Amino acid sequence: MRFGLFGTGPWAHLAHAPGLAAHSGVEFVGVWGRDPDKAAALAGEYGVRAYPTIDGLIASVDAIAVALPPDVQAPIALAAARAGKHLLLDKPVAFTVAAADEIAAAVAERHLSSAVFFTRRFVPQLQEFLEQARKTGGWVEARVDHVGSIYEEGNPFGASPWRRERGGLWDVGPHALALVLPVLGPVTEVTAMVGPRDMTHLLLRHASDAISRLTLSVDVPPAAARQEAVFAGKSGVLAVPALQWEPVMAFGRMLDELLAAANGGPQSQLDVRFGAGVTAILAAAEEAATTGRTIRLAA
Ligand SMILES: NC(=O)c1ccc[n+]([C@@H]2O[C@H](COP(=O)([O-])OP(=O)(O)OC[C@H]3O[C@@H](n4cnc5c(N)ncnc54)[C@H](OP(=O)(O)O)[C@@H]3O)[C@@H](O)[C@H]2O)c1
Repeated sequence: MRFGLFGTGPWAHLAHAPGLAAHSGVEFVGVWGRDPDKAAALAGEYGVRAYPTIDGLIASVDAIAVALPPDVQAPIALAAARAGKHLLLDKPVAFTVAAADEIAAAVAERHLSSAVFFTRRFVPQLQEFLEQARKTGGWVEARVDHVGSIYEEGNPFGASPWRRERGGLWDVGPHALALVLPVLGPVTEVTAMVGPRDMTHLLLRHASDAISRLTLSVDVPPAAARQEAVFAGKSGVLAVPALQWEPVMAFGRMLDELLAAANGGPQSQLDVRFGAGVTAILAAAEEAATTGRTIRLAA
């Protein structure tokens, strides 16, 4: 499968470009970025072409990988899907439900394959853990604390304007949701409250009637940074294990799933339809936090 990469920022360097280059089942064809010098530099590292236009790169490949801000990613993903290209997107798929749904519809109409980089979800041990938790069932609650400190010196993600504007809800919220949704099921009600600095607390009712609590931030004091998740129910309290993983390995697993799906296998559980569902919950949380109301979602 011939791939084009969109984006020349930190995540394109750390995950997408090395991930595409390392996988034996794909051909890394070229890079597009809004800054031609950055595109040429990244392309040069991998001995591939820098493309001056978005359409030119889309036309040259079978699939695209995108490492761009969500509102920049969405129109490129839509154009690629409409041109019949498979999609490997990053989270969140888009900032609006309409944009995310439009991409998912274009993928479905053309029978394309897609995957969204809910990073740790592509680590096999975590997939097995969540599948086992789902089978165990009987959970009545979950708690996920996903809070980090990206504005510390040397952290490349702190330079991103959209993260400053949208905060942890949109940046790390997708990762937290990707843990609870496969175990507790779809979300039917969302309420949210915003605390000091960048801190969003979410309460989600799931179709199973279980309730999850998510604490999300990219700007806590470093000493308070943590990633913890537990499910609780009739089997007791189950902590999600802290796993060792690294981005290129997870990216490779995502490529495996995309290639298998494009060859007639099952679609990834983390496809663009799942990603659009995550956008719907995040958008509802933003509305809930702004209005002080509980937002109902169709399960
Ligand atoms: N799955 C994960 O765990 C994970 C981890 C990190 C990031 N991500 C995702 O990966 C994506 C990229 O993240 P990032 O950390 O590299 O930072 P980012 O700020 O989201 O993206 C940086 C890239 O976007 C380009 N860009 C910014 N605004 C643009 C615009 N209006 N038009 C065209 N290009 C634009 C930048 O170009 P310039 O260099 O020219 O400014 C740079 O190439 C995000 O969606 C993020 O959520 C996912």
